[in-house]
Amino acid sequence: MPDPFIFVLFGATGDLSHRKVVPALYQLWRSNLLPHECMFVAIGRRPYDDESFRAEMLTAVSQYSRVKPVDPTIWTEFAKRIVYFHLDFDDPAGFDQLAERLTVIDSEIGGHGNELFYLATQESAFPVIVQQLGRAGLDHEHHAGGWRRIVVEKPFGRDLESAIRLNREVGKVFRESQIYRIDHYLGKETVRNILVFRFGNGIFEPIWNRRYVDHVQITMAESIGVEDRGAFYEETGASRDVLQNHLLQLLTLVAMEPPATFEAEALRDEKVKVLRAVTPMTPSEVRRDVVRGQYGAGWIGDRGIVGYRQEPNVDSESETETFVAAKFEVDDWRWAGVPFYLRTGKRLAKRATEIAIQFKPVPHRLFVDSKTDPEPNLLAMRIQPDEGILLRFVAKVPGLGVDIRAVNMDFTYGSAFNVDSPDAYETLILDALLGDSSLFTRADEVEQAWSIVTPILEAWVEEAEPDFPNHPAGTWGPEEADALIEHDGRRWRRI
Ligand code: BG6
Repeated sequence: MPDPFIFVLFGATGDLSHRKVVPALYQLWRSNLLPHECMFVAIGRRPYDDESFRAEMLTAVSQYSRVKPVDPTIWTEFAKRIVYFHLDFDDPAGFDQLAERLTVIDSEIGGHGNELFYLATQESAFPVIVQQLGRAGLDHEHHAGGWRRIVVEKPFGRDLESAIRLNREVGKVFRESQIYRIDHYLGKETVRNILVFRFGNGIFEPIWNRRYVDHVQITMAESIGVEDRGAFYEETGASRDVLQNHLLQLLTLVAMEPPATFEAEALRDEKVKVLRAVTPMTPSEVRRDVVRGQYGAGWIGDRGIVGYRQEPNVDSESETETFVAAKFEVDDWRWAGVPFYLRTGKRLAKRATEIAIQFKPVPHRLFVDSKTDPEPNLLAMRIQPDEGILLRFVAKVPGLGVDIRAVNMDFTYGSAFNVDSPDAYETLILDALLGDSSLFTRADEVEQAWSIVTPILEAWVEEAEPDFPNHPAGTWGPEEADALIEHDGRRWRRI
């Protein structure tokens, strides 16, 4: 359990706080994982008082909480600890008042000066908030015997240059050890399990390399569109929203070397090494190895879907990509020559995130009489939904003669463990309160990921306008994405 603390939530009236942060805090409280001596200071620009803000949070938690319905007694105890603080980020005096308020709260709860600042605002507000926190003296790592930490939401920058700038701005005020950059994929149970699967078992690691692995596919498909985030998505697109962070993080976990210890720095060192081994693409490599797409009108199940350009707050001639597929190589001793195919998109046929390790075929066809050729082995990690791991191998079809067919061995979390997984935000917030930064991205890691994605974005700026929309909603992206992998004699796995 963390020490007593004050949790200061910037952007408390925003979407992320409603859907994720506050429900996760409630859930942690409900699970008795937070100390009684804690307070939540919700910061926003809108005119709420404590009561009206608590009422709004109750509505949000009732809708988005992992465990429903909300227990009124537990909620009352939790809600007592939420206070609303009106603050304009451009108002230095407001930050001074905030500092005073925190001192008072701290002495009331006996918080030992432990303060966690959580930035869930728009990215453009990060620098000014950080700067003001520093100016108001809320930056010192150790103060009154306690700690101060800052959690920064994604997107962390919009290209390499802006990420470096943002790192520098935040770094002027806080030390790296105080900074927790969130990529919520790292908090997902199934993602955390990748390391356990790889390094807690003895039999997979010896074959986890170029000798046995033919290629890796990482898919993060969403059936939802941009919902009410059209304006944000117009500026972001699939490459900034998902490829730079969630997909590259999954790639690092699949490709990294075993760290010597399970400590934050050891883990993150190994992840950074993987990103360094991915050579940034030249413009002609971008043309060859990256495909972008945008969905037009279509169908998902029996639901008619409007095209991206018809979504609210989206330009009717938008060139923003809602889909991206790319082929990367991790050029190191373990993986040289093994392609990693990554793809993500909105309004695809279904919601599914999966990592597929496709092994090489057997070297020699022994069962010549079989009606089917042996299929190469496959290991599929289903990150979500239907969380689990599938291993495909061939077996003899019962009967006379020797006929073989692929069969699956399938582990599902749901049936193996009779417990509910925590939401990624619960895991990450608790880790930040405990001071464990293993599941957060380090400054050099974020920059390294941007140095892979930025050349792609730059190459696109130089290219002719894309012919968007180039695939209907409810499909698996544009035909070029199939061509990208089929050109290498491979196919996307049907998920
Ligand atoms: C967010 C993206 O980081 O991840 C969203 O900004 C996306 O566009 C979301 O929908 C997906 O998260 P999850 O946990 O639902 O897979």
